[in-house]
Amino acid sequence: MNKHVKTGSCIKKSNFILVTNREPYSHYKTKKGIICRKSAGGVVTALDPLMQKNKGIWIAWGSGSADFTVCGSENKLVVPEENPKYVLKRISLTKKEIENYYRGFSNSVLWPLFHLFVEKMHPKQEYWCTYRKVNKKFAQTVLSEMKKDELIWIHDYHLSLVPRFIRKEKPDAKIAFFWHIPWPPWEIFGSLPQRNDILEGLLNSDFIGFHTSSYVNNFMNCAEKNPNTKLDLKKRTIKSEHNKTKIRHVPLGVSYTDFADSILSQHAVKKARNLKKMHKNRDIILGIDRLDYTKGILDRLKAYESFLELYPEFKEKVVLVQIASPSRNKIDEYCAMKKEIDEAVGNINGRFGNEEWTPVMYFSRRMTQQSLLAYYKAADVSLITPLRDGMNLIAKEYAASKEDDGVLILSEFAGAAEELNEAILVNPFNVQETAGAIKTAIEMPNEEKKQRFQSMKKKVKDRDADWWLNSFLKEWETTYA
Ligand code: F6P
Repeated sequence: MNKHVKTGSCIKKSNFILVTNREPYSHYKTKKGIICRKSAGGVVTALDPLMQKNKGIWIAWGSGSADFTVCGSENKLVVPEENPKYVLKRISLTKKEIENYYRGFSNSVLWPLFHLFVEKMHPKQEYWCTYRKVNKKFAQTVLSEMKKDELIWIHDYHLSLVPRFIRKEKPDAKIAFFWHIPWPPWEIFGSLPQRNDILEGLLNSDFIGFHTSSYVNNFMNCAEKNPNTKLDLKKRTIKSEHNKTKIRHVPLGVSYTDFADSILSQHAVKKARNLKKMHKNRDIILGIDRLDYTKGILDRLKAYESFLELYPEFKEKVVLVQIASPSRNKIDEYCAMKKEIDEAVGNINGRFGNEEWTPVMYFSRRMTQQSLLAYYKAADVSLITPLRDGMNLIAKEYAASKEDDGVLILSEFAGAAEELNEAILVNPFNVQETAGAIKTAIEMPNEEKKQRFQSMKKKVKDRDADWWLNSFLKEWETTYA
């Protein structure tokens, strides 16, 4: 796995072991045979292009029904199938492990708590025990792949204990962690019974990256409350029992050129034109999300309903296209929310629609990248209003995909808002404010639209996925200087 990895201006030769819960590609048994699907979500969207360029080994949970049928020895295979670039090593989890580690501790405890939905947190002792066990399993797999001097890069809240388990066996291991979701204030984090285990597990990394400076501040505040740490606030480093950890914010970006190139793609341009035509040249307002309560889809629908109520002159002149890819659908909170969204869409269409006009076009399924691109291009307004979101790459993808004739309405509570202040920023809990923002966006003078969009585009271009990787590796590298 030797590879030249560019770190800022210097070229560094490294071995790379990437560790995530979600695998980039899964294989499924279908009636037509085995099919391969790319996973959704920020982590895979960000890391797959980087791995394809930089190669290495990616260790993750094999979650597809045919995953272990297609693997070679040691549960490995080379991906992507059509253009093999890097090794994926799959970890097999039992039904009980999936229930308690993935649906349980990760997504019914950490996920709601870290997104400030304390009331949706349902802790159980067996969740925690299995979370520990599975984190150990991941660490052991990493250890079995380590030969010499590899860079071990672990991602996200599912795997917070992995650095500790690796460090215990290999005190000199080079470990970095990227935390993809928000880090909450101490008042919230402090209520987690396992707060010290999670924090101390992570602090076995040499370097921890977050999306925003406010997550860094929250993390430092939480670390300060831990009896076994010593902070250097100026250097933003934390000394714990066996380690010193550097903490920085390095906001994740998108593969800008992949999206920007589509501006020139005749196929995408034609598809977008067809979409516009299909919607009778109405203003298209676009929402794209994973079907998750943190994404604020229900509040967004309420805001759109309120917009049609408050400003009836826009009836039949706009359409909200909401694309929501199903996610974690075996967790009760997600099933309940899906039902509520289905109903809310039905209510709006029943209340305002007519033979000529469907106010909300709702797709509760995954779309191909090509279709998403066409929607990005066709959308006059992108309405991205999560109630809380680590970053939100959709906002950046929209900015990268359109020329300069769009408007972004963005939640103040998405990590991306710290960078993209040219967007119309809204408090997503304030339905009236979001309704007003939709009106402002549609009526925005072309000159202002252009100015805001170009400036936003430049930021997305300057801080793209390559920038993120280079900045992260540079910061990581200097921890050993
Ligand atoms: O970005 C946060 C995240 O939890 C990722 O870790 C994950 O890949 C994505 O959302 C999708 O969620 P899941 O892996 O549970 O389908």
